[in-house]
Amino acid sequence: MPLKATWLGPKDLERVTDIRLRCYGGGPADRPKFLLKSKFDRSVDGDVLVLSDDTGDVATATSLSMTCNVRGTPLPCQGVAWVGTVRSHRRRRVDGRGLASRVMDALAEKAKERGQPVGMLAPFRVSFYEAFGYGVMERQNTWTIPLAILPEDDTGGFAEYRESDFDACVASRQRQFDATHGDVATPAHSLKCWLANLADVGFRMVDRQGDRIASQFTLGTEVIDGRTIAVVNKPFYDSPAALRRMLAMLGTLRDQYAAARITVPIDIPLNWWLRERQVPHRTVDHPAAHCQAITRMQARVIDVPTFVSALRPAAGISGLINVGAEKTIYRIEIADGRASAAVTTSPADVQTDDATWAAIAFGDLRPDMAETMGRLKVERPMAVSLLTDLTAGRLPYCHEYF
Ligand SMILES: CC(C)(COP(=O)(O)OP(=O)(O)OC[C@H]1O[C@@H](n2cnc3c(N)ncnc32)[C@H](O)[C@@H]1OP(=O)(O)O)[C@@H](O)C(=O)NCCC(=O)NCCS
Repeated sequence: MPLKATWLGPKDLERVTDIRLRCYGGGPADRPKFLLKSKFDRSVDGDVLVLSDDTGDVATATSLSMTCNVRGTPLPCQGVAWVGTVRSHRRRRVDGRGLASRVMDALAEKAKERGQPVGMLAPFRVSFYEAFGYGVMERQNTWTIPLAILPEDDTGGFAEYRESDFDACVASRQRQFDATHGDVATPAHSLKCWLANLADVGFRMVDRQGDRIASQFTLGTEVIDGRTIAVVNKPFYDSPAALRRMLAMLGTLRDQYAAARITVPIDIPLNWWLRERQVPHRTVDHPAAHCQAITRMQARVIDVPTFVSALRPAAGISGLINVGAEKTIYRIEIADGRASAAVTTSPADVQTDDATWAAIAFGDLRPDMAETMGRLKVERPMAVSLLTDLTAGRLPYCHEYF
């Protein structure tokens, strides 16, 4: 039987929960948890794709309409979530394609229909999504810091979150989004979902500075190897000073916790705020931070001309490059601090695949490094430095998750 595609949403909560449960759940006992997660997943009607055959619903994915900051320009973005095939139908071919591949095709169509030039997702496994053009574009550091070495600061603004803080929290998060390349916005309905999702995790804290909320996070507790860790969930902060004050606040908890854990962009050298800046390369007897690097978000550049027009090369840079991304070649023109791209039939100066192109375009993978690592084939060496200038800037980071 041919597959039937249906787009559902919150009004079909029970059916959506059931297909998600059958794709990722451990068994029927997980249903209440899945029902709750589906209720707070931010989808609207028409966002949830379900593929069915004569046995019922067999595969699914969710396409969220979000906004991504590309070098200061907000672009519509498809947030991909909940991709799954039921256990009985995995690696099965229908008309020569697997079910999840059909799901990914349908998502690509939906993004085009909705005018979304960028797609983003938090992968369960990077290699699966690379096959569909999504490149790793974000690296994070998870710091575990003994409380004794955290900085001191004025922590007088901290309080437990109250409902009356909500609008100021949305505004604070928006300031952070506006300042962060590669971020995905958290509008009011998204923040509401986070607050609902995090309600059981711990206490939501805010840092009130006059009328403004400088930072907000949910403080959870974990016991690892007999040590009680203060875990910072969903930290949003509107400035480096706000992040530093958050660390200082954690330092005041030293009677209850041994260490704090927080995840921040890889280019924030958090150890420079600590009383012991060492991140030890060997066993040490004094308190010192531990840091683990991880990758998280993957992105796909769906509409290259729109994406390129959002990039902001420095004013003095000008020139032309032909970039081959998978099977399409784009002529990129840079002049007067702007860039534009159009499909061309001319030969490529540099050639790569879609997943690597996404990492380069977002500025996570430098073109010269991509060449060194055999991910970028170079026909005209000058093109590499021009592409490096075009994509240079702060490393991308996404404070959202879906
Ligand atoms: C991952 C999953 C969606 C794949 O579903 P599927 O219908 O079997 O996928 P397809 O048959 O369309 O496979 C598509 C391609 O990905 C490859 N692939 C499948 N699973 C993969 C995996 N875990 N890692 C890497 N590649 C994978 C397939 O080999 C295939 O490549 P090919 O076309 O070159 O043969 C399915 O196994 C699943 O639902 N897993 C558990 C749920 C989950 O964790 N979902 C992610 C939540 S965000």
